Amino acid sequence: MYEFEDIYHNRVMLSFKDHPFSSTPKHVWVICQFEDQWLLTSHKNRGLEFPGGKVEEGESADQAAIREVKEETGGHVSRLHYIGQYKVEGREKVIIKNVYFALISRLEKQPTYFETNGPVLLKELPQNIRKDSRFSFIMKDSVLTYSLQRIKESNF
Ligand code: GTP
Repeated sequence: MYEFEDIYHNRVMLSFKDHPFSSTPKHVWVICQFEDQWLLTSHKNRGLEFPGGKVEEGESADQAAIREVKEETGGHVSRLHYIGQYKVEGREKVIIKNVYFALISRLEKQPTYFETNGPVLLKELPQNIRKDSRFSFIMKDSVLTYSLQRIKESNF
């Protein structure tokens, strides 16, 4: 279990165990790879981030992950790997989010990308994301660092 603060000084707990905080998390976040590139989305307010969002009524977290990737990037998920879960103790509410690693087989142009401007492919993630104003706040805490490390070690 890792504990740290996000950029807003909210307490974050991250674990790579099997659903340590909730068996039915309400949020998902998907680290996506398309061929040899990272696949992100450009959120209209927050900036560049890996796709994700809220689990809808009647949907599993895994289904939400696949749907959010499609809606925000047009990416078709061919493999979805659960990585872990994190909990953010915000001022007003606590959120619990599943983190996934997804392999994307193809990108299909969408009529709308919802709250985003659609897909962004990056060969490499910059070293200094935390100070890079193009990136969303959800990319700026240790969830990303530890999850990328975990993905690298897992050799998917
Ligand atoms: P609505 O219910 O649609 O109004 O959503 P919301 O804008 O309140 O956002 P949401 O429920 O997704 O998240 C609530 C708060 O949790 C946000 O304002 C953030 O402070 C925090 N939060 C959500 N996702 C993340 C995340 O991935 N990382 C971090 N560090 N904080 C997050």
